[in-house]
Amino acid sequence: MSIAPFRLALLDTQHDRTTFDSGSEPLNRYLREQVSQDIRRRVTACFVALAGENRIAGYYTLASTSMLLTELPASMGKKLPRYPTVPAIRMGRLAVDQEFKGQGLGGALLADALDRSARSEIAAYALMVDAKDKIAAAFYRHHGFIALPDSPLILFLPLATIQSF
Ligand SMILES: CC(C)(COP(=O)(O)OP(=O)(O)OC[C@H]1O[C@@H](n2cnc3c(N)ncnc32)[C@H](O)[C@@H]1OP(=O)(O)O)[C@@H](O)C(=O)NCCC(=O)NCCS
Repeated sequence: MSIAPFRLALLDTQHDRTTFDSGSEPLNRYLREQVSQDIRRRVTACFVALAGENRIAGYYTLASTSMLLTELPASMGKKLPRYPTVPAIRMGRLAVDQEFKGQGLGGALLADALDRSARSEIAAYALMVDAKDKIAAAFYRHHGFIALPDSPLILFLPLATIQSF
């Protein structure tokens, strides 16, 4: 399916957050009411796909996190140094406006988050995501993410797999 020409940018005050509707009220409300404060406090970064000048067609958030070695699948954990945790980047939220769903935008935003994480000079073992439900988890598994054995709604993709492309 062809993807409409979207422009990716850091969220700024010019962008219209009022009309965004992903079909998930918590994700809409976060963009409308909370994200600016989180950005100011440096606890998240928010990237948007813009349709036209300022209309937000989709967004995602990234922040630093860490993963316990013991929560990873044993076969992966044993290949890592024996520190208690490994550094990771967390994509806390990802949402596409209903009008733009099914056009490849969600996949493009995920690819952008992976690329941005893999290009960072600050080391991170994986991109980790919080899926809001089983349907969202299936979206991430479709893109190669692996669920934590004890937390099926938390998934990750080692960034070394991206860099090797
Ligand atoms: C999940 C979401 C981001 C997907 O966005 P989208 O733009 O509709 O998805 P795309 O069109 O980019 O789909 C990309 C691929 O993922 C697949 N896909 C989409 N949703 C899927 C799902 N729930 N399960 C499995 N595969 C899925 C598509 O079939 C497509 O496959 P292809 O590339 O092999 O053709 C969007 O539906 C959304 O915003 N949902 C509400 C919020 C949400 O669930 N966020 C997720 C994390 S909290």
